[in-house]
Amino acid sequence: MKFHSQKVAWGFFATCMLLFSLQLIYGFIMAFAHAGFDGLHDWIPFNVARATHTNLLVMWLLAGFMGSAYWIIPDECNRELAWPRLAWVQLIAFVLTGVAAIIGFHFGWWEGRKFLEIPRPLDYLVVIDVMLFIANIGWTVWKSERKSTTSMVLFFGLLTAALLYLPGMIPTDNQTVDSYWRWWVVHLWVEGVWELIMGAILSYLLIKLTGVDREIIEKWLYVIVGFTFLSGILGTGHHFYYIGLPRYWLMVGGVFSALEPLAFLGMAIYAFSMAKKGGRTHPNRVALLWTVGCSFMSFVGAGFLGFAHTLPQVNMYTHGTLVTAMHGHMAFWGAYAMLVLGIITYAMPLLTGRKLYDHPTAGFAFWSSNVGMTAMTLAFAVAGVSQVVLERRAGMDFLTVQKEVEVHFVGLILAATLFTAGISAFVWNFVRYGLPTAKVTGAQQSTTQELAPEPLPAVAAARG
Ligand code: HEM
Ligand code: HEM
Ligand SMILES: [Fe+2]
Repeated sequence: MKFHSQKVAWGFFATCMLLFSLQLIYGFIMAFAHAGFDGLHDWIPFNVARATHTNLLVMWLLAGFMGSAYWIIPDECNRELAWPRLAWVQLIAFVLTGVAAIIGFHFGWWEGRKFLEIPRPLDYLVVIDVMLFIANIGWTVWKSERKSTTSMVLFFGLLTAALLYLPGMIPTDNQTVDSYWRWWVVHLWVEGVWELIMGAILSYLLIKLTGVDREIIEKWLYVIVGFTFLSGILGTGHHFYYIGLPRYWLMVGGVFSALEPLAFLGMAIYAFSMAKKGGRTHPNRVALLWTVGCSFMSFVGAGFLGFAHTLPQVNMYTHGTLVTAMHGHMAFWGAYAMLVLGIITYAMPLLTGRKLYDHPTAGFAFWSSNVGMTAMTLAFAVAGVSQVVLERRAGMDFLTVQKEVEVHFVGLILAATLFTAGISAFVWNFVRYGLPTAKVTGAQQSTTQELAPEPLPAVAAARG
């Protein structure tokens, strides 16, 4: 690694591994409950398991983004992090707040608003924590003479993500108004500013792993940012169809959200073409596999499966059913989980000085988790479509239908087992990498060369 302060990224990545593993346990608790085996009901009822599962997901992804920033920003800015110790304090505070929230859920201390269940007092702690994080990376970027497009998009993505947490805290006792602001957070995160974070991290990984010129890679980043804002902002309307807001949202939401897959398609074409152009000569091939895989799976999960229920005529029937869970799993997995696992795969050899990327478990982790997640998505799809037909078209009672679809959750459990085998291999590899003890190589000397591409030896040799 280049800088000492990049080590803090390891702390965030280790947190990801812990919280992700815990998230999967709660996924199984719910999958068994859906299949008719709800033995833990008295201790962990479904709503508690669900809030815990999704909040752990958001927490580990945010930890992954922060870790990525603490890794990427010093590298891109060619200087140590402004306040490395603060970054460790901020990590510990983040984990303590998260743990308090999760324990609270189990004792009925929650807000009951999907994805934003964290109780209000803890929200303030999250805000303070994220402000410290933004200040740390912001000051590092500000003090640096080298402001690359990648680092700026990453910084502004993270800053706007932090700001967009605030609408979710606007107090109201009106259900429609509450729903309205909730979507400002949930939608404008995953289909807005998180896409900037994704674009920037993909850009960083492609620069490092393909050896293609930085200028070419970063030019694409502008296109992606453009597409994201063009479609994603007004695309929020696809959540406003039937919650008590004016009718024009049917049209606005339908049209703009239908354009959203373009940004994901753009990212997929971008990653594939850069990987092809670069000739795949980097030794850490599995990191490139995660990078390109992320762009592809996010297109399938977010773009394709998002489009599948985004038109008001369809959403009228599918809203809030297991069809949403089908899309939610593949979208979160493809876009953000794979992204974080990708940067961890890239950074671990550099953080620890060990090279485990050639080990068979590294490839197994990728393929088993992806095939497992694809099968999980199919299981949710079958259950979801059956639910829509029986409940919304045939008019059967909600609970009768839940009984009818129980069998599909046996399929989900099998698929999730395959998925978990892959993730276990990933976590095992992480443990085997050990602590971040690699040698620190220091800053690059010349400033004129800093913005120049970083060709791989093979590419440089081919260019003569
Ligand atoms: C990586 C990007 C995305 C992620 C992580 C994601 C994830 C999710 C999640 C978790 C939900 C459920 C939210 C809730 O009910 O609170 C949801 C809902 C929805 N998503 Fe996405 N999504 C993404 C992109 C997209 C795109 C691009 C589209 C459209 C083309 C889309 C269309 C929808 C629709 C229509 C709903 C509402 C479903 C309902 O009415 O129950 N999503 N998404
Ligand atoms: C062992 C693996 C997993 C299992 C068995 C599992 C199972 C489940 C179940 C049963 C639900 C509740 C669906 C309902 O409301 O009825 C759920 C919700 C959810 N899970 Fe998972 N899950 C797993 C892994 C994951 C992963 C890896 C992700 C993200 C990358 C994820 C993201 C979500 C999301 C976003 C929701 C909320 C969906 C919605 O809003 O409708 N899960 N999960
Ligand atoms: Fe949305």
